[in-house]
Amino acid sequence: MNKLFRRKHYADAKPGQLKRVLGTWDIVFFGIAAIIGAGSFSSLGEAVFRGGPGVIVLYMICGFACCFTALCYAEFASRIPTAGSAYTYAYASFGEVIAWIIGWALIMEYSFGNIYVAFSWSDYFTSFLGRLGIHIPDYLSVSYMEAKKAVLNNSINSRLVNAWHTAPIIGSLRIIVNIPALLINLFITWLVYQGIRESKNFNNFFVLLKLFVILLVIAVGVAYVNTDNWFPPSATTGEPTLMPTGFAGVMSAVSGVFFAYIGFDALSVLSEETKNPQRDLPRGMLIALALCTVIYIFLTLVLTGMVDYRRFDGVGDPLSFIFEKSNANIAWMEFVVSLAAIVAITTVLLVFQMGQPRIWMAMSRDGLLPKKFQKVHPQRRTPSFATIVTGIVVGVPILFTDKSFILDFTSIGTIFAFVLVCGGVLMLPRKEKIKGRFHLPYFNGKYSFPILFIGGLTFFLFWQPEFFQNLMDWSDPNEGEFRTAIFFFIVISLILCVLAFIKNLSLIPLIGLTSCLYLLTGMSHENWFWFGLWLVIGLVIYFAYGYRKSKLNKSVVE
Ligand code: ALA
Repeated sequence: MNKLFRRKHYADAKPGQLKRVLGTWDIVFFGIAAIIGAGSFSSLGEAVFRGGPGVIVLYMICGFACCFTALCYAEFASRIPTAGSAYTYAYASFGEVIAWIIGWALIMEYSFGNIYVAFSWSDYFTSFLGRLGIHIPDYLSVSYMEAKKAVLNNSINSRLVNAWHTAPIIGSLRIIVNIPALLINLFITWLVYQGIRESKNFNNFFVLLKLFVILLVIAVGVAYVNTDNWFPPSATTGEPTLMPTGFAGVMSAVSGVFFAYIGFDALSVLSEETKNPQRDLPRGMLIALALCTVIYIFLTLVLTGMVDYRRFDGVGDPLSFIFEKSNANIAWMEFVVSLAAIVAITTVLLVFQMGQPRIWMAMSRDGLLPKKFQKVHPQRRTPSFATIVTGIVVGVPILFTDKSFILDFTSIGTIFAFVLVCGGVLMLPRKEKIKGRFHLPYFNGKYSFPILFIGGLTFFLFWQPEFFQNLMDWSDPNEGEFRTAIFFFIVISLILCVLAFIKNLSLIPLIGLTSCLYLLTGMSHENWFWFGLWLVIGLVIYFAYGYRKSKLNKSVVE
């Protein structure tokens, strides 16, 4: 049993073999590259449709949770300046089996997340080409599962239905393949394989362009805002309100909104390529997150102010949609935004595709994955084998999965990893301050955390009484999923209150942990089922390989 929780001590970690070329602003750029992408350019539309203008509250909640989590990441990254992200941190604080589970869950964030991003890239790319008069057949630009589901559900999405009906048939199989998604994955894999310096230059240029265009959207769009749109009639009472579908409606958008924030954590895997990881990494991560949060808030305000939220039903390109003929009617903006979306989404793909091999590299160094995963290309100095495997892991599911499944799967896996990172910081011993290093400020949570939690819950009760009344309505089966999750959330938070009181736990990781746990309450039973299955498969692999081959296993002879 003890073996399962054996911990790795990083005090004497060997210096990495990767080139140290990145500074603070490179980290900020990589952060923006990873954070702003398909979440804001694509899933924002669906989120706004579900929650109305009130979805802005969810952006704030997610931003809040991510800020506190980022601080925890920064604390870990400054203590353990070696590649590996949440995986490495869990290895130091929780022990091996939890570290493996995190590493396994991170595949959902990095590789599966990139599947969603590749699909979104393909959507914008296809419609951009369409605006130029170049038409890719529908069956070569959507995924098989999406088209199949659309037909089964009598969807009004003509593109998907058309793909199904016009696809060539071989035997009994319809040939429906998302070619642009496959090609962009191939291109990004090639680029990452070429090396970090080339990727960095490519990245910085496109991030600047992306920021410019997003600011342009906000600047141009603001003149078309009709403030009445921020207070549409409530779906139940008809009264003007920020949350027409109630707080439950806002929370139902959690996967899409949270997805837009994923990415800042990917920066910590660059620690072996950062010149001064203890200083540059935490700074860069927090600056990137703060900038992106502000951008999201303005973007959501402009979007929901320009167009009634109900019109975003099924809109996959919301930022160009607001400039369409039926809305603001600015053709050049429509064009510029679609082009920017292609760029924005490309940079996200790049950061995630760089992150995954580095996590596997760390796992392989620890003996939990075969040695091949730590192979570094002799000239390019990049983890060559792991980079190619990442390309395959992203590419193959593009053939048979669909967007919404992947979105939920990615979000649940990532929030789970965040929960463990915040929990891990709580378990770290306090350390003497070293000048020039980032240190998480310590505020005693003994009284403050219970007060904040009980106060927050009470505030919520008064602010959203309907939300709680509906939860208590046992006759409504739809509330069942939420009810169980909220129940668990409250119980776990109360336990944390007691622990904070007894052990004087640090307030910042406590807030990070609780806010991430809260986000998990938005996940459905189905999400939990698939996530559980994924973890079981991971554990089977661990016991078959990593448990025996681990470097911490004294019986392994080097
Ligand atoms: N946050 C990243 C995006 O929105 C994953 O594409």
